[in-house]
This record gives sequence, structure tokens and C-alpha cells, in this order.
Amino acid sequence: MSDIKSFRQSVESFIAARGWTPTRFGRTVAGDPLFVFDLREGREPRSETRARILRAMQEFGEGETAPPLRIGVAGLGNVGATLVRILQRDGAELTRKLNRQIVVTAVAARSRSRDRGIDISGLEWFDDPVALAKSDGIDLFVELIGGEDGPAFAAVKAALEIGRPVVTANKALLAKHGVALARLAEESSAQLGFEAAVAGGIPVIKTLREGLGSARIAKVFGIMNGTCNYILTRMGNENISFADCLKDAQALGYAEADPSFDVEGFDTAHKLSILATLCFGYEIAPDQIRVEGISSITQHDIKVAAELGYKIKLLGIAQRTEHGIEQRVHPTFVPKGSAIAGVDGVMNAIALETDHVHELLLAGPGAGGPPTAASVLSDILDIARGTRVPPLGVPSEELMPYKQAPMRAHEGGFYIRLSAKDVPGALAAIATRMGERSISIDSVIQRSDLGVKAVAEDGTPIRTVVMITQRTLESDVRESLAQIAADGFIVGQPQLIRIEML
Ligand SMILES: NC(=O)c1ccc[n+]([C@@H]2O[C@H](COP(=O)([O-])OP(=O)(O)OC[C@H]3O[C@@H](n4cnc5c(N)ncnc54)[C@H](OP(=O)(O)O)[C@@H]3O)[C@@H](O)[C@H]2O)c1
Repeated sequence: MSDIKSFRQSVESFIAARGWTPTRFGRTVAGDPLFVFDLREGREPRSETRARILRAMQEFGEGETAPPLRIGVAGLGNVGATLVRILQRDGAELTRKLNRQIVVTAVAARSRSRDRGIDISGLEWFDDPVALAKSDGIDLFVELIGGEDGPAFAAVKAALEIGRPVVTANKALLAKHGVALARLAEESSAQLGFEAAVAGGIPVIKTLREGLGSARIAKVFGIMNGTCNYILTRMGNENISFADCLKDAQALGYAEADPSFDVEGFDTAHKLSILATLCFGYEIAPDQIRVEGISSITQHDIKVAAELGYKIKLLGIAQRTEHGIEQRVHPTFVPKGSAIAGVDGVMNAIALETDHVHELLLAGPGAGGPPTAASVLSDILDIARGTRVPPLGVPSEELMPYKQAPMRAHEGGFYIRLSAKDVPGALAAIATRMGERSISIDSVIQRSDLGVKAVAEDGTPIRTVVMITQRTLESDVRESLAQIAADGFIVGQPQLIRIEML
């Protein structure tokens, strides 16, 4: 580390360890109230000044021990109660590691009397998360309530406005307000940690913000929703329908009573939008993402994928293209031998394609109380150590306005499943329409077990036909399918699944 970098780090650690304001450090140690502000803006003090201040910090440190870092936790559900339990259980070990005590001093939730398996008797109780966020009795605010607006947003905003560091696991909040909150944090010199918001226990935010700081990322993709991965894995291993797998997932607590946010891909889209901003430096744009869920996946799709050497995974994918940033969430055919295909069950995985380290795959538990609370704790420790990085990787004013690449410009292979009328000439007519747009078909499957499925309204038998295309433009595939539908040879909506050769 350069001298100036290590000097900055020492100053920040000194301030964070004592919960001081920058002005207090300036007055007490540096002899200039604006010293820390100037330092953060990039002004480099001369080496004699640095040496004087380091000496003063050392002398100061010898005469005192850092006060405890007092934490306020809003939300004592799955993640919040686990976090409090870990901090109460492992407090002594954390103190040894940090040379500073970390203590939960105050909490907020809806019900004060609910048994959460933790002892909150000695903690200050708040009914209102905003009052907790602003309380003088804490140095750091942890938001584990959830929801993109409401009390979570109000409390995080209130804490940042007074320069108080915040840690949150709330992807919905970040996807909607991430840029505004990052700006607020920068203005008030407060840290904002959200490691747990994407892929629960996998340290992907830290990897992007700090570990890969200098690498140029071309593509990020991954499995970011454990519920969908559990369902698709079971559909692949056992001959079970989507609906039955979903029921099991709900019974096991992997899926919500209303599962649509997960299975229709929106949860993945929130996480992807945050990752894409950290990877490419554009503003967060969850509403610009093409989102398709897994509820239309059938055993036919799973079987054909397996026979052709693929598995189906719900992927979130963001990549640079010549047209802008392509961001999409959809079920995807991935080669069986690829690393991502081996990530099964409720596990998550995120792959990063970079210029220096090529492909990096981070896999692990994407949800659950303990892994998520561990990520929250890792942010708390970073803040206690005084680590400072812009929340979104670059200062928010340098984020570029989002430039979306149109999905129709996407190029790749496609799996197409059609319900075709079983009449002479139907298949030839379909092939002709594809040929008109120069779509090359790799294989056509029309087997007996995919055979006659039903009859059309006019009584004609219907046959399931599956085609795999070579690399082609999405706009060509969609237009040719629209023409095939208009010709009257198919019934219902064709199933279209993109193939990624990862
Ligand atoms: N669970 C996971 O595996 C996971 C993984 C990654 C990220 N996350 C994120 O972590 C956050 C928390 O998730 P969770 O699963 O722990 O949620 P949860 O079990 O539903 O807990 C939510 C907590 O917030 C409290 N709460 C709700 N409204 C409140 C209000 N108006 N004022 C004060 N407290 C309020 C609830 O109080 P009561 O208990 O009194 O009702 C509850 O303790 C969410 O943002 C979620 O997206 C969760």
C-alpha cells in the first residue's frame, strides 16, 4: 500500500474506532478542523505533516481504549434475530479481533413480546425504526426490516442524513433507492454496507468493490434465487411438475406463500441491477431488465434439455454490448459440464468475466438467517475498521445514465417448443418461415413421448415440436414465430428459451 493510502486508512480507522466525527479528529489530532474533509477529497498532506499526525494518533491511542461500537438493529426476523444472537454469542472473539467491543444496544421490531429465541431484556426498545436510526445511543444502524419504501427507507435515510453508518440486507430498497442513498452517504461521509443484499452469504459486493477494483468486467451472470434453483433442480432430478415442486418448496420454507416475486424472476432482477451497477458503473435500473420467470417450464423442456446435454437454470445476466448494457433474467439452457450447471438446490452462484482474471465463480448459500447475518456482520466489521469505499464502487456523481441494449439485438442459440397442428405440410411451412429469416436449425425433435398432446378447437390433433437454432438474432426468431402463428399452424404461445454457451 502507498504511504498516502496507508495514512488515509490509519486516519479512517482511528475515527471509526472511536465513533468520532471528522471535525473532532481535525480539531483534536490534526490541528485543522477541515483536515479529514480535505484528505477525503484527495488532498495529500506533506510527509512531515503525516508523520506529525501519526505520532499524535499514537500518543492519543496510548492513553485511551476505543469505546464500544454501539449497534442498533431494526427488524428482528430471520436475519435480525440471528445477527443479534451471533453478536451476543461471539462478542468476546470479535472484540479480540478488532481490539474494540461491538455491542447491540438497541432494537426495533413490530411486536415487543414475540419470542425470538434471543435475550433483548437489556436492550433499549424502539417501536419506531426511524427513532432508533436517529437515537444518540447507537453508532451504527442496521436495517433488517425489508421492503423498498416504508419504514426501511425512512430509517436508512434518517441515519445517513445525520452521517451515521448503515448496514442493510435489503435488495428491494437498494434496487429502487440505491443511487439516492449512496449520494446521501457520500454527502454526509457515512458508510453504507449491503453485502447481504445480493446472494446472501456470498461476498460478491466486496469482491466487486474492493477485490476486483481495477479489472474491467465484461459480463456478470449467475443463479441468484434459491427458490427457483431448488424447483428447477428437483424438476431435473425427479419427474415432478413445476406446481408440485413449488408446493414442496413452500412446505420447506424455501418459497413464500405468494411465490410470484421469486418464481417470476423479479427478485433476481433486483439483485442483478445492483451487481450491474457495481460492474459497469451505470445507474441502477431494475425496471429496464427483461424478466421472464420459470413458471412456464414443463417436464418436456427439462427432458429435452437433458437429452441435448443441457440443464435449465434461471440466470440473471448483464453484459457490455456494442448497443449498451444487456440485462436479462430468464430460464436458460446451460451446458451440463459448465460450472454454473453444477450449482444445484438452494445454492446460489455468481460468475464474473473480467479481463485480468478471466472467469471467477463465487458459489454458496444465497439465503437463510446465518449466511445472511454473516454478511451483515462482515459489513459491520469493515465499518468498525474504518474501511471506506464509495457504496456503489465509484462516487455516485460519476455513475453514467443507464444505456440499455435492446433485447431484440440479443444474439444466441434458442430452444423453441411449439404446439403444432398435426396436418400435412405444417412442419415444412414452419421450416420455410424460419429459412426466410436465415435461421439455421440445429435439430428438430418430434418424438412419440413428446407426441400428440391434445386437440385444437377445430379437432385437429396437436403435436409438440422442438427446435434448437444455431446462433441467431432474437428479433429474427420472434418475427418468424409471429408469422408462424399468423399462418395458423400452431396453437398457444411458443416456448422460447435462450441457450448460453458458458
Ligand atoms: N431471509 C433471508 O434469507 C434473506 C436473505 C438475504 C436478504 N434478506 C433481506 O433481509 C431483510 C430481512 O429479511 P427477514 O427474512 O429477516 O425478514 P422477516 O423475517 O420478515 O423479518 C422482518 C422483521 O422486520 C420487522 N418489522 C416489519 N415491519 C416493521 C416496522 N414497521 N417497524 C419495525 N419493525 C418492523 C418485523 O417485526 P416482527 O417480528 O415484530 O413482526 C420482523 O422482525 C429483507 O430486506 C430481506 O430481503 C433476507
